Amino acid sequence: MDFFERQWSSYRAIVEHDLMEHRAVAAATAATIDDWLARRAATAPAPSMVDLGCGDLALLAPLLQRLPLAHYTGLDLAAVVLPLAQAALGTVPYPTHWLEGDLQAWAQGDLDERDDGGSGEQPRRTDILHSAFAIHHLDADAKATFLQAARQRISPGGLFIWVDVFREPGESRDTYIARYVNRINAGWPQLSSAQKEHVTSHLRSFDIPADRDAVVAAAQNTGWNWHWGWQGGHQAEALAVLTPA
Ligand SMILES: C[S@@+](CC[C@H](N)C(=O)[O-])C[C@H]1O[C@@H](n2cnc3c(N)ncnc32)[C@H](O)[C@@H]1O
Repeated sequence: MDFFERQWSSYRAIVEHDLMEHRAVAAATAATIDDWLARRAATAPAPSMVDLGCGDLALLAPLLQRLPLAHYTGLDLAAVVLPLAQAALGTVPYPTHWLEGDLQAWAQGDLDERDDGGSGEQPRRTDILHSAFAIHHLDADAKATFLQAARQRISPGGLFIWVDVFREPGESRDTYIARYVNRINAGWPQLSSAQKEHVTSHLRSFDIPADRDAVVAAAQNTGWNWHWGWQGGHQAEALAVLTPA
């Protein structure tokens, strides 16, 4: 197994054993989108959706299969997951597009998520933006840049669901990492020692969860309203609901 396959297979084990509360995340995501759909005018056109860091869609496929979408784009930095996502989704009654790329590039408008040419000079906007467990790889400045750019890519009245790990207000990254590693070692017996090692080394190398208060302020400063839609039981996983202010 190469580096990515090892990391990915450890992540799959985490999802299967629900160690990061993916089942609750999926339920909260479905409830948030259903509520947003119910509040739309009956005459509103079917919404488009973009999923940044879509992975293999193990979490989201059942929801996507029933949503009345006009279009879905799954974007991921790792090309290898896109056929898995496509297979998990199966046949749906709306067009889908699979894009290998960086979520920052998408936000900046450097990637056009559809094949039909875009709308001209302005990057296309999406009605529903979703990202789960991908943005925490960006540092605080890059997150603020992302939020500012993504604000230009959301439709008026649109919905951005950001699922991720977050630090407690004022908590240092080192304290967060130590806390999370303790949680893995003490509470994840379903993983082998090798899998725990893959996860902790990934965490130490790549994870930069946002400080909760700081990221809410960054979002508000870049034109978003912020609402916590779901909180996990470990002061880490959470779902934020962002709407254009
Ligand atoms: C932990 S997985 C989560 C997958 C899926 N969203 C889920 O919730 O199960 C993170 C995914 O985000 C992708 N990713 C990480 N950084 C990214 C970036 N800068 N741009 C696009 N995708 C990224 C990874 O390749 C991976 O597939």
